[in-house]
Amino acid sequence: MKFFLDTANIEEIKRVNRLGLVDGVTTNPTIIAREGRDFEEVIKEICSIVDGPVSAEVIGLTTDEMVKEAREIAKWADNVVVKIPMTEDGLAAVNILSKEGIKTNVTLIFTVAQGLMAAKAGATYISPFVGRLDDIGTDGMELIHGLKTVLDNYGYEAEIITASVRNLAHVEAAAIAGADIATIPGSLFPKLWSHPLTDKGIEQFLEDWKSVPKKD
Ligand code: E4P
Repeated sequence: MKFFLDTANIEEIKRVNRLGLVDGVTTNPTIIAREGRDFEEVIKEICSIVDGPVSAEVIGLTTDEMVKEAREIAKWADNVVVKIPMTEDGLAAVNILSKEGIKTNVTLIFTVAQGLMAAKAGATYISPFVGRLDDIGTDGMELIHGLKTVLDNYGYEAEIITASVRNLAHVEAAAIAGADIATIPGSLFPKLWSHPLTDKGIEQFLEDWKSVPKKD
């Protein structure tokens, strides 16, 4: 399974990248706004730190605007991926961009049908939002199971990025469902390798070690 970091914060990216656990990065306009930095500058910096794909989202809503922005963003780095919203105009943009060899990540997917349309239009990645589905009282993880089955049924190459991940259970369920990728907020990532009983165990071992007789 691949792990992406769902952040544009350089410190968070460096912390997890040091462990060799970062396969890519995803951003959206909200995540970029949080950093208070120039969009192009921050994406270029992330692309220079991380070897894998780095998603940067377009703002335009028409096909022409999206394609124009995407062609510009695609010049920023070899590993940049253009994030396109799941709309009719977005699908048309993905259709054009995929033929030009520009990698796309179709975002804001909430149904199996939407994911299927994006994969068929030529998306490199599709991003179903599990947390936001949970927020409205539905089971977001069911969408991951459904998309996995449908993409496998027809052999689509698009990879599933489990997005809008809010907790450890989401990550574990995405892995069990066979999602290709989970994109994880910087604040959540350390919880993947931590457990209070691990910390308590270390503390106890060190305490007990004090009573072991030492030669000198
Ligand atoms: C990533 O691609 C998405 O933009 C992100 O996971 C959305 O997360 P949120 O629903 O917590 O804002």
